[in-house]
Amino acid sequence: MAGVEGRVVAITGAGGGIGRQHALLFAERGAKVVVNDLGGQRDGTGAGSEMADDTVKTILDAGGEAVANYDNVATPDGGEGVVQSALDAFGRIDVVVNNAGILRDRTFHKMAGAEWDAVVKVHLYGSYYTTRAAWPRMREQQHGRVIVTTSTSGLFGNFGQANYGAAKLGVVGLINTLAREGAKYSITANAVAPIAATRMTDDIMPAEMLEQLDPAYVSPAVVHLASDECDDTGAVILAGGGLYAQVAYFQSPGRRFDHVPSPDEVAEHWAAITDLTDAAPGHNPLEG
Ligand code: NAI
Repeated sequence: MAGVEGRVVAITGAGGGIGRQHALLFAERGAKVVVNDLGGQRDGTGAGSEMADDTVKTILDAGGEAVANYDNVATPDGGEGVVQSALDAFGRIDVVVNNAGILRDRTFHKMAGAEWDAVVKVHLYGSYYTTRAAWPRMREQQHGRVIVTTSTSGLFGNFGQANYGAAKLGVVGLINTLAREGAKYSITANAVAPIAATRMTDDIMPAEMLEQLDPAYVSPAVVHLASDECDDTGAVILAGGGLYAQVAYFQSPGRRFDHVPSPDEVAEHWAAITDLTDAAPGHNPLEG
């Protein structure tokens, strides 16, 4: 049984879409939940308290425990505010689920600096600010679970999403290091790559596809990653439409030279360098 009972969980962007499903499932499993949501539009404009309040009401009506938080996670104060809500309401913070997100799609050629900044701020800086605020508490209590939300757009690329893809792969870089730095404090750091029918995808995916993609499918993977008994760390888990799978980097055996090769020699052996036939999971060579 995925053990999160009594754990204090802060979920960003939990007023709608996937984050709301996370909040409902955590609460159903006995966790105490901070439901953060800025309550704005898909592009990050606007704000309001209704979305977070609605998720909290649903949890309370079902007999669960939750409080609302309306902070903007794209600011340092916002990230701290989310964690402070957990401390004020429940006295601790065990799990941070960085889920809040916006879109400002545009081809790279046409993308304005403000569109780049807004998206990177919410996804990458938002994950940083919120996790940074929780980190000292997790170290002190020798327990913590950090989950970030990545995307196939970052892992594999997607037309018109240079800002989003960069931010989404940025959070994977974040957990790769947090997994190492958190290990001796029993803090794990993992990523989920969702695929779900929400307002974020309703005009991007065909209707037949969206029907298969209830966002509730994503949350069991997140609750498992957050549970006491899951000590996996540094993993990227794809979850959507009933499929759960791990995504990882692989490295080809490559070609080693005993001298600095000329570009022509590299070109000559390019096929061997890039041949993934016998590829194995890649790793940091500094770690042996
Ligand atoms: P959504 O738009 O329904 O949910 C995002 C939530 O984040 C909204 O409720 C919004 O108000 C909130 N939010 C936005 N900016 C915020 C801020 N600065 N501070 C606090 N809250 C803020 O979209 P969805 O699909 O539920 O997205 C959830 C996460 O999953 C996002 O990180 C998204 O990038 C990611 N994702 C979703 C996919 C999908 O297929 N729906 C695919 C891959 C990733």
